[in-house]
Amino acid sequence: MNAWMVNLFFALFLLLAATGLFFFVVTRGALVLRGLSPGSHSEKSHVYPIYSNMKLIKLVDFQPIISAILLFQYHHLVSKIVSELKQMDLRKKKVLITSCAFGNVIPRVVQASLESGAERVLIADIIQNELVHAKTKLSQYAGKVEYVEDNATSMKLKDDGVAANVIFFLLHELPHHLKGQTLNEAGRMLAPGGKLFLAEFHRPQLWVLRALSWTYFKVFEPLGLALWDTHDPLAYLEGEGGWKCERTTYFFGNFQIITATKL
Ligand SMILES: C[S@@+](CC[C@H](N)C(=O)[O-])C[C@H]1O[C@@H](n2cnc3c(N)ncnc32)[C@H](O)[C@@H]1O
Repeated sequence: MNAWMVNLFFALFLLLAATGLFFFVVTRGALVLRGLSPGSHSEKSHVYPIYSNMKLIKLVDFQPIISAILLFQYHHLVSKIVSELKQMDLRKKKVLITSCAFGNVIPRVVQASLESGAERVLIADIIQNELVHAKTKLSQYAGKVEYVEDNATSMKLKDDGVAANVIFFLLHELPHHLKGQTLNEAGRMLAPGGKLFLAEFHRPQLWVLRALSWTYFKVFEPLGLALWDTHDPLAYLEGEGGWKCERTTYFFGNFQIITATKL
């Protein structure tokens, strides 16, 4: 092997290792440290610094990075939600986005909702900085979008108030006892006939992918593995009753969109 190829290989390895270390420090590593430090723990204790520190939010929210993290399935996942929203009659109705997410999911969901006639889109997040950042992507929809600082597990919104609710990769970051609470809240706020769109990780069919995915969760996001079995959101919703659910999986089963219609 040529010397330059060895150097290239080494440089790529270093780049990957540094990227992995950076993401570990601003996600799980920070939570481990937070857990060890004395002092009060709040309802925001599970939120990674990558979602609360404005400099980090701006640094990481770059579409190619976000797409790569979701193995280039981001576009397909968002498109599925958007196409379902476009088929709904949302005239005089409200749409809720529960928790912000990086990339273009929020602008695409807002645009699809307004095209389907929605009178308003509410965006709720537990972190004010995330709402401020989301607003920078939505200047063209000013007046049609409302930003609400709120906790997905106990929202201030009234019962039956929205026709659709989009929850994009939130559940895997929540402590287990809050996953079901969040789904219950989503159901409470939806009007009968309304749709909950849940994008999440799912147990891959291919064992190689399963092994890689398992390692990723163990290192970076240990709260996510339970979605594969004990805290499968679809099983939870069906167990609660009052929902008609459909699941579509992507990339050998690694990701899922659950569309749950409130009966
Ligand atoms: C949706 S999740 C992960 C998104 C995904 N990794 C991405 O960006 O593509 C991150 C967001 O959830 C928010 N969040 C975390 N816990 C929350 C809660 N209990 N209620 C509302 N928002 C929450 C965080 O503040 C952050 O904006």
